[in-house]
Amino acid sequence: MIIKFFRNARIYTPEGKPPSRGADQGTLRIFKRGAMLVQDGNIEAVGTEEELLANALVKKVDEEIDCEGCCLVPGFVDPHTHMCFAARREEEFSMRLAGAAYLDILKKGGGILSSVRHVRGASEQEIFERTRTLALSALSFGTTTVEMKSGYGLDTESELKMLSVIRRIGRETPLRVVPTFMGAHAIPEVFKGNGDGYVDLMIGEMLPAVAEQGVARFCDVFCEEGVFSPEQTRKVLVEARKYGLGLKIHADEVHDTGGAALAAELGAVSAEHLLAASDEGIEALAASGTVAVLLPATAYSLRKPYARARTMIEKGVPVALATDCNPGSSFTESMPFVFGLAVLVMGLTVEEALVATTKNSAHAIGLGAECGTIEPGKNADFLLLDGETPAVLAYHAGVSPVKSVFKKGERVA
Ligand code: NIG
Ligand code: FE
Repeated sequence: MIIKFFRNARIYTPEGKPPSRGADQGTLRIFKRGAMLVQDGNIEAVGTEEELLANALVKKVDEEIDCEGCCLVPGFVDPHTHMCFAARREEEFSMRLAGAAYLDILKKGGGILSSVRHVRGASEQEIFERTRTLALSALSFGTTTVEMKSGYGLDTESELKMLSVIRRIGRETPLRVVPTFMGAHAIPEVFKGNGDGYVDLMIGEMLPAVAEQGVARFCDVFCEEGVFSPEQTRKVLVEARKYGLGLKIHADEVHDTGGAALAAELGAVSAEHLLAASDEGIEALAASGTVAVLLPATAYSLRKPYARARTMIEKGVPVALATDCNPGSSFTESMPFVFGLAVLVMGLTVEEALVATTKNSAHAIGLGAECGTIEPGKNADFLLLDGETPAVLAYHAGVSPVKSVFKKGERVA
């Protein structure tokens, strides 16, 4: 049994069990001179330093760490990434800068389909090494738990190859990794014009194989004009649910196709993107337990209007934030960058953004009971920031104010 005592920290943390929504989205617990007792990687107690000095465990500590008055927040949980890929797409970025539309590039066989060619052509080891580099970079920016989607394979063998890489990242880096099967990311070239045929392949072959190997926790579908229709999305997800997979939807990213309402109706754990979500979609999310995962770095990179985060919070939708890290629409692994955009562009308060990047994002990947807050019973995943309050994450722009990263009580970056 190893007991660690972290003291002299300014602790800022969300609290409580269900995802925070409405006024709770902006509510934090603050200990100005706080302390935390960690036993075998889990938080045993948190409170003021004075309170904790009275705790019987303090007499048994193996290590005492002076946080020197730094701000201590939960480690970031990044609940939406496509970080597992085999090559960058810088040329395509230049095409977009010159005016090409994201979905037009995909229609012409580029975009996601270009990443598919790269993943199919690369060995598992090559993909692993690239993904590990990005994952470790994300860790240095404060991400302690990350979701990673497949979806650049689009056939059974290549999707399983990606999911195998994703599992290895979880085993061979300090990050906790949540794997999502996203065979429904695009329609592969051999099924061009026959999306229903590809949906049949997913249902008949891919989902059973993924389920049999137990390599995914969620299933996600890109519900979008020219990609998967709401009917096809429903078909895939209803089938995925039979295998015990949790459901996610890339909903209303470019066009409003009713993806948000569909996510709510199916009881999906999250609806993601939502740049074009309608009022009805937002109302439906508010009435369900579905978390809205917003990806401001994607709006930034695609130069699109941002998701209506303020409306969502006011209507009572629990809001989470993620990077969407991928080689096309959002190439960043930095949660501090996302935090800054959320506060300075989308109008979230610092408190709301902190809840959205920690507690609510943990809920968006089914880990609300394990991480995302500094509370007894949770994993001791936390960050020390170079600043007095979490506002520094938006204030000190373009750099990382994350001084150190702790995963299960161990310093890992
Ligand atoms: O979330 N929209 C679909 N998927 C990703 C982009 C993937 C890519 O362009 O490679 C997204 O934006
Ligand atoms: Fe995405």
